[in-house]
Amino acid sequence: MSDEEPIIALENVYKIFGPNPRGRAFDLCSSGVGKDEVQRQTGHVVGMRDISFSVNRGEIFVVMGLSGSGKSTAIRTVNKLHDVTHGRVMVEGTDVQELTGAALQAFRREKLAMVFQHFALFPHRNVIDNTAYGLKVQGVEKRERHEAAIEALAMVGLEAYAFNATRELSGGMQQRVGLARALCSNPEILLMDEAFSALDPLIRRQMQDELMAIQAKLHKTILFITHDLNEALRLGNRVCILRDGKVIQIGTPEEILTEPADGYVAEFVQDVDQGRVIDVGKVMHPPVILDSSRTLTECVDALGERRGGFCCDADGRPTGLLAMTDAATALAHGTTDLASVLRSDFDTTTAAARFNENYAAAGRGLPIAVLDDTGRLVGELEPQEIMEEMGRVEQLVDGFEREVFL
Ligand SMILES: Nc1ncnc2c1ncn2[C@@H]1O[C@H](COP(=O)(O)OP(=O)(O)O)[C@@H](O)[C@H]1O
Ligand SMILES: [Mg+2]
Repeated sequence: MSDEEPIIALENVYKIFGPNPRGRAFDLCSSGVGKDEVQRQTGHVVGMRDISFSVNRGEIFVVMGLSGSGKSTAIRTVNKLHDVTHGRVMVEGTDVQELTGAALQAFRREKLAMVFQHFALFPHRNVIDNTAYGLKVQGVEKRERHEAAIEALAMVGLEAYAFNATRELSGGMQQRVGLARALCSNPEILLMDEAFSALDPLIRRQMQDELMAIQAKLHKTILFITHDLNEALRLGNRVCILRDGKVIQIGTPEEILTEPADGYVAEFVQDVDQGRVIDVGKVMHPPVILDSSRTLTECVDALGERRGGFCCDADGRPTGLLAMTDAATALAHGTTDLASVLRSDFDTTTAAARFNENYAAAGRGLPIAVLDDTGRLVGELEPQEIMEEMGRVEQLVDGFEREVFL
């Protein structure tokens, strides 16, 4: 099974709401007239405009956009809760639009499960019966469906509550039941529409963590919808940004942050703590390794334009940092001895660490050693570059605002 194999694909999908969706509204929309103008001229609402994206097997693909941008409409085409006006929706090679009757029911039951913002639980049934509901509808006998439900509840940490009434649970716990219910029938695809949006921030982060843990274990394909960019960037292997029914950008969280497609995306990005998303491995340099038997002058030559280099022991572990600033001061005082200028109080990090874990160290202004699991030097992080990278998106937003408002 390849990671890159698409399991869901939307191909040039349009969805127009109104009495005559394929008429003039579609002609206008497909020739590039905007959503508001189409509505003004025809009274039809553009839900999706030429949307294409594909979701690879085993990935968390997040569709993000403001309210009304077409997210729910898009997810609803995947299980054919909506017919499309134009285009194709493929799920594992099946053209979803062609499915009807029993085949459609079987497809929805076996391939997908949906988790909603409002948990849609039966308040008077207990947790286990809510969780096992889908299996009951499929005619699975009680013992078997309860076993599956307990397993699913264990995954969300709720097995102890199996026989509680759902109305006794907090919002966060009810959403866990919603997730357990989706997992219970063991579908390949989870469709999650603003599933965490109603939860308090702390609970919401816990649910995000748990979803990622479940994903790492079960390798489901997850199409996740949110209006929150932080959530999108945290969860998504890739993120698709919609505006007014149109795709604005599709990319990895890092691509969205560092190369926002336009000012609209950049404005969102401005509110995000990028440090949480960009990892050290993306921006580190190969290290300059200095020979400790050389003179200070020779080492400064070896550094070239770099702000520092390291002496290492026989196993490749860094023992001393030669910072360009220290070297310059020493040379100005006539020092040529390398050992007297080497620092042992340098900061270290790893390639998998996040930017924001290094802010404090970067604040010292000295190069940071990037180490592997065994403590060997694999890279060097330049503090100035951390600061520059953080400032880049802000500049982009500033530039855009000038363009628009001046
Ligand atoms: N059943 C419907 N009838 C008419 N307009 C609809 C319907 N469903 C959604 N829309 C419109 O389509 C657009 C996209 O809606 P939706 O997909 O629900 O957005 P989101 O989920 O991003 O908030 C909105 O302008 C909305 O008003
Ligand atoms: Mg919605």
